[in-house]
Amino acid sequence: MQHVIVTGGAGYIGSHACKALAKAGFVPVTYDNLVTGWEDAVKFGPFEKGDLLDRARLDEVFAKYDPIAVMHFAALSQVGESMKEPGKYWLNNVGGSLNLIEATVDAGVRNFVFSSTCATYGDHDNVTLDEEVEQLPINAYGASKRAIEDMLRDFEGASGLQSVIFRYFNVAGGDPDAEVGEFHRPETHLIPLMLDAIDGKRDALTIFGTDYDTPDGTCIRDYVHVCDLVDAHVLGLERLLNGGGSRIFNLGTGTGFSVREVIDQSRAVTNREVPYNEGERRPGDCTKLVSGSTRASKELGWEPKRSTMDLMIADAWKWHQNGHYDK
Ligand code: UFG
Repeated sequence: MQHVIVTGGAGYIGSHACKALAKAGFVPVTYDNLVTGWEDAVKFGPFEKGDLLDRARLDEVFAKYDPIAVMHFAALSQVGESMKEPGKYWLNNVGGSLNLIEATVDAGVRNFVFSSTCATYGDHDNVTLDEEVEQLPINAYGASKRAIEDMLRDFEGASGLQSVIFRYFNVAGGDPDAEVGEFHRPETHLIPLMLDAIDGKRDALTIFGTDYDTPDGTCIRDYVHVCDLVDAHVLGLERLLNGGGSRIFNLGTGTGFSVREVIDQSRAVTNREVPYNEGERRPGDCTKLVSGSTRASKELGWEPKRSTMDLMIADAWKWHQNGHYDK
């Protein structure tokens, strides 16, 4: 059996990755401390509760499963929080990843797939965001992810660790079967907050800033469906297992949507009004983040299948209505 350690496998993206790995014939072993994850989301392989900062526990899990690879999703990931509490991000994301990378190398595992972010690029006006753009993060979350990328390069030089790094744009949507889905507490992401506002589960959505230098004044993001995103991870893993070597890939579609456009699409998909008001900018937000790369398609053969805004909202809406873990 080909075990893959999936850190953060009880979280939003990690749980979808476990489903994709199981479908591709791997056995995903979720390693998660359940601080932001849900045990109910672990459905496709064994669960090992543990913290990245607990090196002895990591060693135990590596010894138990003898994995062929690691997929590392576990991280704190809120841009706003990272501006207020940067220490949490440097300790958990950077310190935790250092522990994990050392445990990986010491266990003799050489294949590592890492969940990074386009937040490592920062604000680049009128620059096409491909993988060669200079990384100048403007928030502690992005800085923590960039530091982990640097770490992976250093460990490759010293120990031969091969890594595929994926820099995500905005991940959205959910499993079309609604077996797993997006469920954060607290929730900070645009689409789930909007769906909550639509059916009255929370107050109106606040648009964070309407004075950005964009056509309608609101921030622009490149949204990618979580199922397409995790498919790329399986392709990245296969690249490593086939000896393809380390590589960095953006994962986005190249199409940007403003906050107002996402609201309009949600109204169309759900056929319901979106209660919203207009508020101040959120510290740490970039004006526009849209991928300018086709490397993942060209080199991995990645073909996004569900990353249209209507499908992402429709899948998120389905989960929203049927799925939550705390029911
Ligand atoms: N937004 C609002 N109101 C809200 C929530 C969000 O207007 O209540 C806006 C944000 O300002 C932003 C857009 O909607 O312009 C998307 O915000 P999200 O919080 O959904 O996503 P972010 O772009 O802030 O961050 C996400 C991930 C990060 C990742 C980043 C890369 O959470 O981990 O995408 O763009 F780094």
